[in-house]
Amino acid sequence: MSPTDAFAPAKVNLALHVTGQRADGYHLLDSLVVFADVGDRVRVTEARAMALTVTGPRAAGVPADARNLCWKASEWFGESVSIVLEKHLPAAAGIGGGSSDAAATLRAVADLRGRPVPSEGLERLGADVPVCMVGHAARMAGIGDVVHPLPPLALHAVLVNPGVDVSTPAVFKALTQKTNPPMAEMPAAAGGAGGFVDWLAAQRNDLQVPAVALQPVIGHVLAALEASPGARLVRMSGSGATCFALYDDSAEAEAAADGLRALHADWWVEPCTLR
Ligand code: C5P
Repeated sequence: MSPTDAFAPAKVNLALHVTGQRADGYHLLDSLVVFADVGDRVRVTEARAMALTVTGPRAAGVPADARNLCWKASEWFGESVSIVLEKHLPAAAGIGGGSSDAAATLRAVADLRGRPVPSEGLERLGADVPVCMVGHAARMAGIGDVVHPLPPLALHAVLVNPGVDVSTPAVFKALTQKTNPPMAEMPAAAGGAGGFVDWLAAQRNDLQVPAVALQPVIGHVLAALEASPGARLVRMSGSGATCFALYDDSAEAEAAADGLRALHADWWVEPCTLR
């Protein structure tokens, strides 16, 4: 049988408000999530027993065994397959690499075996897996288990990761104020128009301050993006360390990315469209 491929896009939290904490320690979120046209690739083929190979430019340090979320997702689905994961996204980076890989694996296995993916309990694989199953602009609530898909939007952006791993639990732990206001009412037309960016600028990522305190280089990334010509809005995604800037068009984003790469050859810099 022929293999089945799935794209695992980078997830970007345009805003991430922490609105409370549950008794089990998980945090309640209100987040606007979009997906990039850069990401990992997952290929699944028929096999009797689970197998996983990790390839690609960002494969170093990614486990190729039962610890990997691709493997866990397939087991959660009750299917044994052979998986090739091609890593392009930095890991532990606030752009949902593991959750997006898990969602792509579920889509590919569902295609291969002709079974729909159960919608219940996906968040137990990873809090970002339910929104990654949607794969385009969505508002995420609860601990990540409540997802409301949004009308299409297209934003021109640059993603930057300075190459430091950030532990999500450590950032949540360092957040002192656990109860913050949710996002303000979104404008009806979120289609990249100026009004949307103004609205977005008034929202926050509540994890940005604790993440910068833990990894000060994130502050340098934010400053470098702020200084890039044409940057309309600069913010960190997820629990970091990846940050993004929004631009009016793709030429500005490409030019900003070239400038950032020239100054910081060791940073991961990707111009992209967010949808
Ligand atoms: O589910 P995921 O593996 O992405 O979460 C990693 C860790 O981040 C959790 O173990 C938890 O400490 C923290 N977390 C949280 N509240 C969320 C999502 C994650 O406290 N809504």
